[in-house]
Amino acid sequence: MRYSEDLIEEIRMKNDIVDVISGYVKLQRKGSSYFGLCPFHNEKSPSFSVSPGKQMYYCFGCGAGGNVLSFIMEYENFSFPEALKFLADRAGVELPKLEYSREAKEQADRKALLLTINKEAAKYFYYQLYTEKGQRALEYLKGRQLSPETMKKFGLGYSDKFSNDLYRYLKNKGYGDEVLMESGLFNADEKHGMYDKFWNRVIFPIMDVNNRVIGFGGRVMGDGKPKYLNSPETKIFDKSRNLYGLNLARTSRAKNLIICEGYMDVISMHQAGFTNAVASLGTALTSQQASLMKRYTSQVLIMYDSDEAGTKAALRAIPLLKAAGLSTKVIDLHPCKDPDEFIKTYGAEKFAERLEKGMNSFLFEAKSLEMNYDLSDPQGRTDFFHQLAGRLASFEDEIERANYIDAIARRYQTDPAALKKLVGRLALKGAGVRETAKPKSGVNREKQNGYDISQKLMLTWLVNEPGIFAGIEGLISPQDFTTPLYHQVAEMLFAQHREGEVNPARILNYFQDGEEQKQVAAVFHTMLPLQTAEEKAQAFRDVVCRLKESSIGWQSDHLAPTDMAGLMKLMEDKKALESLQRGDTPLHISFE
Ligand code: UTP
Ligand code: MN
Repeated sequence: MRYSEDLIEEIRMKNDIVDVISGYVKLQRKGSSYFGLCPFHNEKSPSFSVSPGKQMYYCFGCGAGGNVLSFIMEYENFSFPEALKFLADRAGVELPKLEYSREAKEQADRKALLLTINKEAAKYFYYQLYTEKGQRALEYLKGRQLSPETMKKFGLGYSDKFSNDLYRYLKNKGYGDEVLMESGLFNADEKHGMYDKFWNRVIFPIMDVNNRVIGFGGRVMGDGKPKYLNSPETKIFDKSRNLYGLNLARTSRAKNLIICEGYMDVISMHQAGFTNAVASLGTALTSQQASLMKRYTSQVLIMYDSDEAGTKAALRAIPLLKAAGLSTKVIDLHPCKDPDEFIKTYGAEKFAERLEKGMNSFLFEAKSLEMNYDLSDPQGRTDFFHQLAGRLASFEDEIERANYIDAIARRYQTDPAALKKLVGRLALKGAGVRETAKPKSGVNREKQNGYDISQKLMLTWLVNEPGIFAGIEGLISPQDFTTPLYHQVAEMLFAQHREGEVNPARILNYFQDGEEQKQVAAVFHTMLPLQTAEEKAQAFRDVVCRLKESSIGWQSDHLAPTDMAGLMKLMEDKKALESLQRGDTPLHISFE
């Protein structure tokens, strides 16, 4: 179910964009706009602008832009409904409850109850760590060089030696055995009844992206077995759909996410300033986790332990991440076994250097494959190249494939032409001949580009100088905008004008997809670097002519041969255009 457009608009209007963004970015007034350092890319001089009049922001450096909803989506990494909820709360607007069936409601209540129990347990463990009983645990964590702030940030705790403390604590709070059992925090047997699952362990609460505690890990302080004990899967803990540390990493400003193996790796990376680290917690990476990461980034650095298990896990992760549309690099931590050890041994600076030296994931796969072949033996080499060629054949992008063939040939000193031939043969045999998309002719593409630009410019004019609507009446209409996105925007702008108010920020409410939002915001924010009224009049006439010319060209290409009325209209339009181009028709617009 979706919220109504009026409600979305109400929430948007009740959150003044300058107020909201000031909470995140230091803004300074310059003329009619505010400027600050863009929070979406690194910069030293401010190119991030916020317009109180339009209620929109735009970065001239990186092209980020939108209204207050898009800002919250982008800054907090929220989905549209999450951002809406956030701003509704901020403005004290109550969102109507979505309608649930009775069954769904019971399920939701149960989950809420389990979350509450986990929260209580997390608080209990946390509290224990700082009591006398928790002293050894605190010492243990300090011994692992964790600062008090880091421990707090991750909500670390301690479950003490008395094995039904937590059980009694929660019973006293009034929770029943059945739901406590379902929480996964307890075991039960006939002899002892119910008792705590975690005892005498350091506790790592596991949070989902919304900072809700969904499970726990507990580590022995020393060499006992098992090293880590984890909550089982429950109604609220689906291990395949969550990543440890993502609640913090998702607001990191880094350009990628780092996936590693464990709790301590994540924590020590965050402590060293690499707040983009997450872990899949002892289970193999899943495709759901890959898509989860895709929500926040387009590149993932794989940083598994540098042992055989870690290499195998990396090899399994690469295709999963690729399938989710993520680019990947593999980080080598030798001579250390994991990131925690590396940071302790060499420090954050050296660690950052390693991050820069990520290995292309295909070359990593090739390198791992090497181990299975004797490359000094001609047969071994042949088999090895056949294997690699098979993999190369599955690359769909031809340029990419060619680049990799070159890289592999260079690395393993073989003839690139021969390798290319082999790959080509295998590609034909394997996936079958893929029909390659017909390349658009260069001329056409250029023409379309020019048309796109005129459409975009015209929209910019309409937003910045609403006075011109009157002057173009009968000449330019939404039909002249044929690129789907621009057409949509034009329809809305013209409608708003008819109703008496041009309101670009409201139009943005409709574009909830990030890419579209950016494009539309860019339209609204393109600056027209024109000063005098003559300059403006001249430039505007130019845009009108170019847009009309492209539009007429497009219409005549797409006109049905039997559409006589359409043809007549086109002829009229052509005449009007010619007269405009000759300067016979004045445009009745006054620019100040
Ligand atoms: P590791 O054994 O590499 O642990 O397992 P670690 O994170 O480096 O921990 P420290 O530094 O020895 O304290 C990696 C991850 O595998 C899971 C945990 O999630 C751990 O963080 N694991 C490991 C378990 O669930 N149970 C175990 O017994 C061991
Ligand atoms: Mn480890």
